[in-house]
Amino acid sequence: MSSSLLIKNGIVVTATDIYEADIFIVDEKVQTIGKDLNVSAAKTIDAKGCYLFPGGIDAHTHMELPFMGTFSSDDFESGTLAGLYGGTTTIIDFAIQTQGDTLTAALNQWHEKAGGKAVGDYAFHVAVTDFNPKTKAEIKTIINEGGVNSFKTFMAYKGALMIDDRQMLELFKELKVHGGMLTTHAENGDLIDGLIADNLAKGNTLPKYHPLSRPEIAEEEASGRVIDLAYQTQSPLYIVHMTCEGALNRVREATKRNQKVYVETCVQYLLLDESLYDQGFEGSKWVMSPPLRKEKDRKALWNGIHQNLVHTVATDHCPFCMDQKKMGEGNFSKIPNGAPGIENRMELMFSEGASPGKISLNKYVELTSTAAAKIFGLFPKKGTIAVGSDADIIVFDPTQDHTISAKTHHMKCDYSAFEGWRVKGKCRTTILRGQVVVDQGKAFVKKGFGQYLARKPLAK
Ligand code: URP
Ligand code: ZN
Ligand code: ZN
Repeated sequence: MSSSLLIKNGIVVTATDIYEADIFIVDEKVQTIGKDLNVSAAKTIDAKGCYLFPGGIDAHTHMELPFMGTFSSDDFESGTLAGLYGGTTTIIDFAIQTQGDTLTAALNQWHEKAGGKAVGDYAFHVAVTDFNPKTKAEIKTIINEGGVNSFKTFMAYKGALMIDDRQMLELFKELKVHGGMLTTHAENGDLIDGLIADNLAKGNTLPKYHPLSRPEIAEEEASGRVIDLAYQTQSPLYIVHMTCEGALNRVREATKRNQKVYVETCVQYLLLDESLYDQGFEGSKWVMSPPLRKEKDRKALWNGIHQNLVHTVATDHCPFCMDQKKMGEGNFSKIPNGAPGIENRMELMFSEGASPGKISLNKYVELTSTAAAKIFGLFPKKGTIAVGSDADIIVFDPTQDHTISAKTHHMKCDYSAFEGWRVKGKCRTTILRGQVVVDQGKAFVKKGFGQYLARKPLAK
């Protein structure tokens, strides 16, 4: 039996348009968009005074990630549910190869974690931590049969996830043959390892030594290097969680030789800065890699958005509770790296970006949804409000103020990286594939509602 939903009187915002309209949804898809639609629907929502945005796409999350001797504290159920509360309907999580094991095993493991559990839709990037002839032989199948067109390498986390330039070069070449794109965590792992050792040798063990061991130059150098490798192989490239002016300038330089590099930043790098590390072990809450930077870097990232050098805003959602963070008491390098954010991204970007007019409403949609859908091959199923697209829509009330707190958030994390932040605008209703999954702070979704999004090879 088919279901139908009518959203009346809202202001539809896409990456290109803004207009008042009704949206008629049948089953999972948008069927009609128009003024004063005269249709009968099983359910009607009055969205007067609200924006209707495409469901958010967070292209960088880590649910149940085994990392630094523990697991990130949100699994696919709790993490995607928190996303739905905050207006994110799709995530792209990283299936990470264990060194010595296969890519197929990683993808299967991540399917097991997510399948039957996720309540939001999900796709996977596959992280290659061990590129060898066997891995190379898997790429074609992972792309064509696994529905994965984006891969990842880590240029840091030496001894665990990092691979070297030769491996990356070979990976670039293989991806190019089959229509895959590389995404990269760009930090110089050797430089960082040396600085960590230096700091620990001096007895510098507090969280504030984390950013000092991962300076801007480590990110700038690695960003420049991977951009050069992509240039040499004429490959597309997406740099994840960019934080600083120096790295962005390497991207700017690359445009002078007509190279296109996609850049992702994360909401925390746009809004927070390194002063948060200066509070004893409390600073561990923001121990993430790369670390929070300086005011001048935040400015550079916002300007990068205006200059179309920064394309997406994600979260790198990778929460650890304080008892997990305590693994690094007495040694900052053992603090599990990562922080919660999936629930806050859409509202913070509205409140700090669109609401004060720092970015337009169209840009807001582009950064939080459309660009990721286009870059990663999910568009137009995801990332827009259009006839025939999945009815992933958030009814956003721009007037509703609220305060972010771990006491009220739904992420499985006992602190918030944005505790006490006053936010203008609230995601009132979240609709995923035509179903109202969250309304006025209540969830109406069953475990396993989320669907895997198999993607096609990218244009070569
Ligand atoms: O600190 C971070 N970013 N943790 C998650 C793993 C990664 O580097 O993306
Ligand atoms: Zn990373
Ligand atoms: Zn990450």
